[in-house]
Amino acid sequence: MAEGHLSLGGVFAFISYSGYVTGPIMMLLNLRIFFSAIIPSAERLFQILGLEEEPDAGKLKVEQDRGIQIEYRQVSYAYENGRSILKGADIKIAQGEKVAIVGENGSGKTTFLNLLLRFLEPQEGEITVNGTNISEIEADSYRGLFAVVDQAPYLFSGTIRENIDLDLRTDREAFLRACEKSGADSFIAKLPEKEECVIGQNGSMLSGG
Ligand SMILES: Nc1ncnc2c1ncn2[C@@H]1O[C@H](COP(=O)(O)OP(=O)(O)O)[C@@H](O)[C@H]1O
Ligand SMILES: [Mg+2]
Repeated sequence: MAEGHLSLGGVFAFISYSGYVTGPIMMLLNLRIFFSAIIPSAERLFQILGLEEEPDAGKLKVEQDRGIQIEYRQVSYAYENGRSILKGADIKIAQGEKVAIVGENGSGKTTFLNLLLRFLEPQEGEITVNGTNISEIEADSYRGLFAVVDQAPYLFSGTIRENIDLDLRTDREAFLRACEKSGADSFIAKLPEKEECVIGQNGSMLSGG
């Protein structure tokens, strides 16, 4: 390139070598785009990892040989804003009893249930199962007593099978039994891919209901 002239070979060499310089620079510039895609997921992940662990002081197991009796004794609960939701609630629920908790919107039905599930702790009174205060029962064994169907079920963006059997470790027979018991079998049978049907994020590929 002496004296400002560039030979044909020099042009080719320049073009091919310049890629070695611009390539990494482009990659560095694209890092921002790359990171902007993972930052929201990373934030949510760290939010979950940073959650406080549930204190589990409980050591007792629930004896189930004579069934389960649930009792609320003088249970009171107020959220942080101080307004009481439950005030001295007493209720006894015996084994096999079907109970409907009915009340207006905001009257405290979900709060009542969340207390039973130990998502909340009563400020006064106690909730007992077979006479034992539920806070003294080991969390694993306690949660094993409940099956909850929420108002807004969360569906993962996998297949129906993965949503029913999260770790895919249940044998097929038990899986089919669960489908049958819940009444999901007739709906699954209508799908071309059956339980391998991908339902999309939170069931976006399914119709409501
Ligand atoms: N996390 C919360 N913090 C403060 N107030 C709440 C919270 N959750 C519910 N509440 C209030 O407690 C009351 C009872 O709510 P909830 O138990 O959800 O009622 P229901 O399920 O009967 O509709 C409502 O007034 C609601 O606004
Ligand atoms: Mg509710």
